[in-house]
Amino acid sequence: TWTPDAFVEKTVAELKEKIGSDDKVILGLSGGVDSTVAAVLLHKAIGTHLHCIFVNNGLLRKNEFEDVLEQYKGMGLNVKGVDASARFLDALAGESDPEKKRKIIGRVFIEVFDDEAHLVEDAKWLAQGTIYPDVIESVSATGGPSATIKSHHNVGGLPDFMKLKVVEPLKMLFKDEVRRVGASLDIHPERLGRHPFPGPGLAIRILGDITREKVAILQEVDHIFIQGLRDWGLYDQVWQAGAMLLPVHSVGVMGDERTYEKCVALRAVESTDGMTADWVNLPYEFLQKTSNDIINKVPGVNRVVYDISSKPPATIEWE
Ligand code: XMP
Repeated sequence: TWTPDAFVEKTVAELKEKIGSDDKVILGLSGGVDSTVAAVLLHKAIGTHLHCIFVNNGLLRKNEFEDVLEQYKGMGLNVKGVDASARFLDALAGESDPEKKRKIIGRVFIEVFDDEAHLVEDAKWLAQGTIYPDVIESVSATGGPSATIKSHHNVGGLPDFMKLKVVEPLKMLFKDEVRRVGASLDIHPERLGRHPFPGPGLAIRILGDITREKVAILQEVDHIFIQGLRDWGLYDQVWQAGAMLLPVHSVGVMGDERTYEKCVALRAVESTDGMTADWVNLPYEFLQKTSNDIINKVPGVNRVVYDISSKPPATIEWE
């Protein structure tokens, strides 16, 4: 029978054997479960010969880059945080088309990752947190660097880092098995229980073009919503949640003043694999408090709506 402890023991031994004691390995961390578990396994096998790269694309949740980088360092990982926010946001300026936004983000990610990979001497391997469902589905919906790399890897010439040999220690595992392996490696439950978050991040939750101001507004709204779910003990009952910044203004009133400001939509879904999803019946009291907090604390937003659409036909993300 399969047990996480036996998997760890066997995989660490295999990784040591395969990689040897001289080669260096590069791995892109996303903050998500799969890349984190892959990194900790490899770190157990080869220590500081594993070079992790964590890229800030400027489209992460509020404080996510700093917080997660600290956590990774606390786990003893050899990790370099690369703040490439300006590069991504400049490349996205003026673009409103959802698929073009995804392509730009994928391209810039590869450029940044390739630049960083060149700085690691003796790098011979690229490690990825690919899991079994990614292998069987050609289109990955798991998010993170591995998904970005895969969906772009036959466009034009290969970047240099892609000429590395590939190592994918989680390739035969399902998500729940990855979580169990993570627990057996003592990875913090909060990291293992994290909701999925798309690789293009907030870019596909800001409908229309992306500006720094819109990112900042959405980060505040998202933070109030997600922290609220945690405070109310609802976070683990939800498969994925987030806020969308809509490209409309609506009329409101504040004191004696008429306002004409932005509208956000909150979305929380139950799902097992993201292929189908139902909206979650969050308590009215929670929605009421969250809506008040958002409107009172986030300048520029005067209206909050809750998305009550299921997938299909509505997708989880709005773009
Ligand atoms: P949809 O919106 O298609 O989302 O119902 C299903 C799941 O996939 C995630 N998602 C993405 N993940 N790159 C990613 O890495 C993407 O471009 C992307 N689009 C959607 C979404 O967050 C949900 O978990």
